[in-house]
Amino acid sequence: MKTLMFSTQSYERPVFDRVLVNSGVNLVYQKARLDLSTASLTEGFEAICVFVNDDLSKDVLLRLDELNIKLIALRCAGFNQVDVETAEQSGITIVRVPAYSPEAVAEHTVAMIMSLNRKTHKAWNRVREGNFNLHGLLGFNLCGHTAGLIGMGAIGRATAKILLGFGMDVLAYDPFLTDDGAKKLGIKSVELDQLYQQSDIVSLHCPLTEDTHHLINCTSLAQMKPGAMLINTSRGALIDTPAVIRALKAGDLGYLGIDVYEQEGDLFFRDLSEEVIQDDVFQRLLTFPNVMVTGHQGFFTREALESIANTTVNNIKTFERTGSCENTVKPQLIG
Ligand code: NAI
Repeated sequence: MKTLMFSTQSYERPVFDRVLVNSGVNLVYQKARLDLSTASLTEGFEAICVFVNDDLSKDVLLRLDELNIKLIALRCAGFNQVDVETAEQSGITIVRVPAYSPEAVAEHTVAMIMSLNRKTHKAWNRVREGNFNLHGLLGFNLCGHTAGLIGMGAIGRATAKILLGFGMDVLAYDPFLTDDGAKKLGIKSVELDQLYQQSDIVSLHCPLTEDTHHLINCTSLAQMKPGAMLINTSRGALIDTPAVIRALKAGDLGYLGIDVYEQEGDLFFRDLSEEVIQDDVFQRLLTFPNVMVTGHQGFFTREALESIANTTVNNIKTFERTGSCENTVKPQLIG
């Protein structure tokens, strides 16, 4: 199937090249991000392959339909960026990679917790300058403290497993988690209020939906313990960033670690080091000593890239052969 792969990064090409051998899939790499202005590049293709910050809103999907695109293969798990109903009405099938390496994101989540807590990023700089002073580097033992995980799917569970290994108490909120299910995992299922009130670290692992949009806002922040740590490796819009900035300025929120940002589409996956960044909210975040931002790299391990490439190419092959695919996104699924 002739497929155009948008937002291709150089590190993806060798991985896809290996998987493509003898696959029968004809994949053409394209660096540009998909939006209304680049949609016409798909002329002559039957399928496209996209990533998290490609634009799959109604107007773009209608244009892709005019251009006879039949399949959109997401090389990611989340599909909050897709207008699934418009795709279905247009007869465009959307397939995704449901779980490629939950451990990759869980381990990055824990890396953020550890760095923010023990300030290893600051210590690294200090030692290189010959400053061996410990002032400002004081952390706390994770052992004996409480983590609250919102969303207990593949990544939430993998994160819980690691944190339990540190000796933390783990609370979780997930509408589909039963008390029994939680018990088997060695954690406790609680309501959101309780999670906010009792957790020293709150970490988000739920999808972005209408219900979870700006889940972290002034009301939820006001319920958190003074000095709590907030981590988001899921989707940027789970957090109302101006509200979080107010909580950081007031000293109510103790630490923030984010791998995702609501307006990341204008920033991430590109080298903007020679440009003036116009997003003042994002720039304000970078000024706090207790904030750590990474550019959506939670998924970025060798194992995850291999798994993404394998499943994506398989999804395209299966759709071409049978006209359907078990990894098809349906409107009733949560993104
Ligand atoms: P999953 O589908 O396995 O789990 C999501 C869980 O969230 C489910 O158990 C679901 O019941 C729960 N949930 C749904 N609505 C909820 C709500 N209102 N409140 C609390 N929980 C709710 O998904 P997975 O693989 O664990 O991924 C979680 C999120 O991580 C994805 O939606 C995606 O946004 C993000 N992600 C980030 C990556 C990164 O590189 N930073 C890479 C991959 C995923």
